[in-house]
Amino acid sequence: MSKLRTEIARRRTFAIISHPDAGKTTVTEKLLLYGGAIQLAGTVKGRKAARYATSDWLELEKQRGISVTSSVMQFPYQGFIVNLLDTPGHEDFSEDTYRTLTAVDSALMVIDSAKGVEERTIKLMDVCRLRATPIMTFMNKLDREGRDPISLMDEVEKVLKIRCAPITWPIGMGKSFRGIYHLPLDQVRLSAGGPHSPTKEEGIIKGLNNPELDKRLGLQAEQLREEVELLREASHSFDVEAYRRGELTPVFFGSAINNLGIRELLESFVEHAPPPQPRETTTRVVDSGEPMLTGFVFKIQANMDPNHRDRIAFLRVCSGVYRKSMKLRHLRSNKELRIANAITFMASEREHVQEAYPGDIVGLYNHGTIQVGDTLTEGEELKFTGIPNFAPELFRLALLQNPMRMKALQKGLIQLCEEGASQLFRPLTGNELVVGALGILQFDVVAFRLKHEYGVDCRFESANAVTARWVSCDDPERLEAFKERNRGHLALDICGDLAYLAPSRVNLELTAERWPEIRFHATREH
Ligand code: G4P
Repeated sequence: MSKLRTEIARRRTFAIISHPDAGKTTVTEKLLLYGGAIQLAGTVKGRKAARYATSDWLELEKQRGISVTSSVMQFPYQGFIVNLLDTPGHEDFSEDTYRTLTAVDSALMVIDSAKGVEERTIKLMDVCRLRATPIMTFMNKLDREGRDPISLMDEVEKVLKIRCAPITWPIGMGKSFRGIYHLPLDQVRLSAGGPHSPTKEEGIIKGLNNPELDKRLGLQAEQLREEVELLREASHSFDVEAYRRGELTPVFFGSAINNLGIRELLESFVEHAPPPQPRETTTRVVDSGEPMLTGFVFKIQANMDPNHRDRIAFLRVCSGVYRKSMKLRHLRSNKELRIANAITFMASEREHVQEAYPGDIVGLYNHGTIQVGDTLTEGEELKFTGIPNFAPELFRLALLQNPMRMKALQKGLIQLCEEGASQLFRPLTGNELVVGALGILQFDVVAFRLKHEYGVDCRFESANAVTARWVSCDDPERLEAFKERNRGHLALDICGDLAYLAPSRVNLELTAERWPEIRFHATREH
C-alpha cells in the first residue's frame, strides 16, 4: 500500500456532540489522556485551569469562561492518528459547531445518563443527519443515580431515530456502580476506584460465567448475567455497515470522571469509525486517496496574537498530501497562495507542519484572503459543497457612537462576518448595516472585537426581522417584480446574494404563498 493510503487508513477525524454539562470536556480530557497527549493526572478542574491559556484565544472567552472557538486536537492511539475537532459548548455559537460537523467523518454523542436526550443533542443530531454522519454514543455519569439503561436506549431510538446497539453494559448504577461488561469481548472491567486511567488489563475478568465475578460482585454477578441474556435477545446487535450509514449507533456506558468505559469506547472507535471519506464538489466526487491535494476551510480564527492582525484558516485536507511551503490555488480569487507557515494541532500545543494527510486539519496563516467555505487545490478547478450558512434568527442594527468611524465599522463587520462570527446584511434601501446571528452572545463578541481590533465603538439595536431566507427564481422577470414589490425587506448578504428579511413568521408564510415561483432557502451554501 502506498504511504498515502496507509496514512489515510489510520486517520480518524471526529467531533463530540452533546448538551452542555453532559461531560464533553471531561470525555475529551480522558481521550487525550489515553492518547498520551496530556499527562494531567488531576481532575477536570485542574485541567480547566491549566489549559485555559492555550485553548482560550479570545480575551472575551477568559472573561466569560465560555469557549467561543473550536480548536483541534490530534493524538495517536494504537497506531491510529485521531483528530478531535472541539466545538463550542455554548449554544449561542452553534453556527461554529454546525460548520465543524461538516469537516468530520464521524461524531461521538455524549449523553448524561440522568438526563437522557436533551434539546441541544437533538439539534446537533439533525445537523449530523444532513450528511448521514456515523455516530457513537457514550452514556456518561453512571456513577450517579440515573435512568434505567434500557429506557435510555429507547429514548435515543425514539427521539433521535437511530437504532442502538449496546457494546458495553453497566454493572449497577450510582453508589452500586461497579464496572462495565463488554458484550463482544465477553469480559468485565471492574471499577479501579480513583481518577487514574486504568491500564489495559487492570480490573479485567474474562467470561460472564467466571466464578471470580461472583466473588467480586456478589449478587450483582447473577443480576448482570440475567440482564445480558435479555439484552442479547432484545437489543440490536452491532452492524458496522449500518453504523457507517448513520442508521445505527453503538452504545457505551461509563463514567468519564472515573475513567470507566472510555478505553472500551476509544478502542472501538479506532477500529470501526470511518477513515477520511470521499467528498462532493460542484464537479465530481473527490476520493481521499487521490494524489493531488484538495481541501476546504470550515473555520477562521482571528487574532490569536493581538499584536498581529493575522487569521488562521482551518483547512480540512480531503485528498493528497499537504507539504510545508507548497503552493496552493485559492479557487474563489483564482490566485496562487504560498503559505509560509502552517500549523497542526498536536493536542494542546500548536506545531509547525511538515506533512498533513486527508482527515488532518491544517491551520493556514493569512491576512483575510481566505474565507469560510473556500476550496484550496493544487490547481484543479473544483469547489467542495455542503458548508452551509444557516438563516439567522436574531437581527440587530449596528449603530456608531462616532459617525466618522463608518468606514472602519464597515471594514470590521465585513471581516468578522467573513470569518463567520455573525452574518452581515445590507438592505437594498437605506444605508443600514444589519447583523444577523443565531445566538445573542455573537453580538457581544462582534461588539467586543470591533472595539478591540478595529477601534470602533458600536452598539446594537433591534432590527425589524425575525428570520432570513435566501431567495432565488428561475425566471429573471418574476425575480425583478418580486424585488420591486418587496424592496423594503430585501438585503444583500456578504457574498452579494439576495435575502428576504422577514418581519414575522406569518409575513414569511404569506409572502411565500403570494410568490410561488420564488424559492426561499433557510440555508445558503458558501
Ligand atoms: P461539558 O463540557 O459537556 O459542559 O461538561 P463537563 O465535562 O464540563 O462536565 C460537566 C460536569 O459534570 C462537571 O462538573 C464534571 O466534573 C461532571 N462530570 C463529568 N463526567 C462525570 C461523571 O462521569 N460522573 C460525574 N458524577 N460527574 C461527571 P462541575 O461540577 O460542573 O465541574 P467541575 O467543578 O467538576 O469542573
